[in-house]
Amino acid sequence: MVSAAPVRLADYSPWPFALPAIHLAVDIRPGDVLVTSRLDLEPRGGAEALQLRGVDLEICSIKLNGDDVAGDDYSYRDQLLTIHSPPSKPFVLETCCRIDPYNNSSLEGLYVSGGLLSTQCEAEGFRRITFHPDRPDVLSRWTVRIEASRASCPVLLSNGNAISEEELTDGRHAVTWKDPFPKPSYLFALVAGELREIRDLYTTASGRAVTLRLHVEEGDEPYSTHAMESLKRSMAWDEQVYQLEYDLDEYNIVAVRHFNMGAMENKSLNIFNSKLVLADAETATDAELERIESVIAHEYFHNWSGNRITCRDWFQLSLKEGLTVFRDQSFTADLHSAAVKRIEDVAMLRNTQFREDAGPTAHPVKPAEYQAIDNFYTTTIYEKGAELIRMLHTLLGQERFMRGMATYVSRFDGTAATTEDFVQSIVDGAAQDGQPLGFDSERFKRWYHQAGTPELTVQRQWDAVKGELTLELRQSTPPTPGQTEKQPLVLPIAVALVGEKGRIGEEQLLVMDGDQASLTLQGDPGSAAPALSLLRRFSAPVNVQLEQSLQESLQLLAHDDDPFSRWDAGQRLARQVLLARASGEPDATVEAALIQALRQRLNAFDGGGGQDLAVLLALPGTAELEALQNPVDPPALYAARREWIAELGRQLADPLNQLLDVCRGEWPQAWPAGQGGRSLTGLAWSWLAAAGDAEARNQALEAVSGPSMTLARAALRALQPMEVDERDLALDRFYQRWQDKPVILDAWFALEASAPRTDGLQRVQALLEHPRFDPLAPNSLRAVLGGFTANVPVFHAIDGSGYRFMADQIAAVDRRNPITASRMAKVFSRWSSYGVDRQSAMRQAIDQLAAGELSSNTAEVVAMLRT
Ligand code: ARG
Ligand code: ZN
Repeated sequence: MVSAAPVRLADYSPWPFALPAIHLAVDIRPGDVLVTSRLDLEPRGGAEALQLRGVDLEICSIKLNGDDVAGDDYSYRDQLLTIHSPPSKPFVLETCCRIDPYNNSSLEGLYVSGGLLSTQCEAEGFRRITFHPDRPDVLSRWTVRIEASRASCPVLLSNGNAISEEELTDGRHAVTWKDPFPKPSYLFALVAGELREIRDLYTTASGRAVTLRLHVEEGDEPYSTHAMESLKRSMAWDEQVYQLEYDLDEYNIVAVRHFNMGAMENKSLNIFNSKLVLADAETATDAELERIESVIAHEYFHNWSGNRITCRDWFQLSLKEGLTVFRDQSFTADLHSAAVKRIEDVAMLRNTQFREDAGPTAHPVKPAEYQAIDNFYTTTIYEKGAELIRMLHTLLGQERFMRGMATYVSRFDGTAATTEDFVQSIVDGAAQDGQPLGFDSERFKRWYHQAGTPELTVQRQWDAVKGELTLELRQSTPPTPGQTEKQPLVLPIAVALVGEKGRIGEEQLLVMDGDQASLTLQGDPGSAAPALSLLRRFSAPVNVQLEQSLQESLQLLAHDDDPFSRWDAGQRLARQVLLARASGEPDATVEAALIQALRQRLNAFDGGGGQDLAVLLALPGTAELEALQNPVDPPALYAARREWIAELGRQLADPLNQLLDVCRGEWPQAWPAGQGGRSLTGLAWSWLAAAGDAEARNQALEAVSGPSMTLARAALRALQPMEVDERDLALDRFYQRWQDKPVILDAWFALEASAPRTDGLQRVQALLEHPRFDPLAPNSLRAVLGGFTANVPVFHAIDGSGYRFMADQIAAVDRRNPITASRMAKVFSRWSSYGVDRQSAMRQAIDQLAAGELSSNTAEVVAMLRT
């Protein structure tokens, strides 16, 4: 294994040079690319060697103030170019390098995707293009000239504004771009190739006309409307809510098939995974349309939270990502249902981030060290980071929070900041009204440094005479790797009492910042104990330990006015049911009560707003169930879930069939309308089909050929777990229909790979050799290998065959694409939670991986898994 020295937050020091201007000349040729870079450098202080990063660069020339640098005046080794004694006055360093984007499968730096040249520079990809400090606190004004053959690359894009175009000899042409805003190298982008353009116009609040351009492959133009409309909605929202306007005359988005992650916020030239651009109702599900809208918004919002104000170093990654996720979550909440959005986000947080926080790769929102920064683009940095911003918002309220944001922007615009700078700005801006802050901001900052999900334990006492409920609360955070001692955190805890007629009294916000706290809530004297609605809206990202009776959960499910708490009560009961079934002892009382409560909900539904009901009926995710099981038995949980779904289908057959009748009318409505009806339809098909209902299977099969991708995919999900003819027919029809559309076919690959068949492993092997499978596309890899790991009986086969297979695949992917491989290696993070057999089998697979030659990215993850 390769083991590089870790980078530490504590070692930060500013770069000893300023780099006010960069001129790049990129000469694209059929077999390689020549990159000439002119750096205007200004030493700051002492005489130091100049060190620039460079990976896989072939040096053609190095000139300092116009003169060649002699061979012994520089060295290039270990990805570092050192100019031993640079001048002490400002100077110009010009390097010319040859790079080979045509054989770059890492998808970092400059690479080819389906004939298109495009870049991904965050976090450290720019060093694969030319020599540069490649750190986010070095900001420069960039001018970029791109030259290529017009036939193969009619479109040449970079950041900022196109300032000149040249027609050259031999069918070549060049375009020069200039970006007026200083930016770090990770925001640089370049795209060259043949693309079709969709153009629109947006006028900002202050009257700036912005040309919006979306660039897609020929034939994909019809699928661009949704992304374009989403962009315009994002621009308007940021003006209305944050008073932040776009700052350039053009905004470009390019869709690329081969992309490691979702999308990238390069200044005025966003590059997107094509699955997050191309969509309409026939080709994308409702959930995908919403996701596309939110990612378009996310990247757009980065223009302020990330680009205008960037990160001092990569330890500050959550400064831009946590904040921008919070902003995109708020955007979706404002445009759609705030309640549904919060519920979906919490479900996701609990099933991904809580799992990460409880395992070997747990790390703080602001890590203290890393080996490969790409390994820290995690749900902790993004989603937990967003929860921290949300808590600040909860603690301060909208008005004070927004004043804090305005303070942050005015203090740090045009600079590279830290999370401390951010929190201090928020606090200072909020306090401008002269009111006490309401919490200890120094203690709040602990959230950034402490890993692990806090446990909130609550005990209570009801005084019937006075009608008072007294709560005793304790918090503690379990130890995480490298962090055994934990401190108390600032927890905003929203609580209320709920009686048989709904909420009693006002909601209260308890701000807990020590190990213990107590609180008394006023209820009705002389009455029975009211239900406790705790952690309303999920006001802090914690696990709650509280004894709640069946009766209390039912009361909350029926009468709580907070939609999150209502949903949470239902989830609690569903978790009980599933865990009891998985342990082989079904709980008949809870099952009967839950079915009765669901029956009432179904009967009361008469159309419209079905999304609320759909989330209420959805079953808890596997990860949160596993967190409550010891040892974890994935096949038992999987079987419990399937049996419970079948039971629901049998017991609720009548109301589900009525539901289908009500929902059918909503099927043709265009997103966002009709999504509730479509969600509920999918749920009804899945439950009824599991119960053996042939009519539901038929309806589902028909939907696969219908006009709605949401219904087609819901149908496939309903049929896929079952050994029935309709399943194979449905998958085949879907394949036949979409085989020429890779973005859509990935859904088929994922469903095939996760179908629980007895010959599952052989089938997955065959999928990897399928003519439509593209081993260089992370989307395809994630579809097949991610689908495979979701194939519980096959992946978790007790003989360890699934684990060994996966380890082999990760090693193979790692040789081409370390970023994608190291993310996949995290599937083994739960190994120590399983029973003895699986534990040792998974551990062997991890050791098998560790024994091979790994990239430093994957080596770092594997080392974390092994400690
Ligand atoms: N900043 C991008 C975002 O919007 C993520 C890009 C990360 N890519 C990478 N190769 N590390 O979230
Ligand atoms: Zn982001």
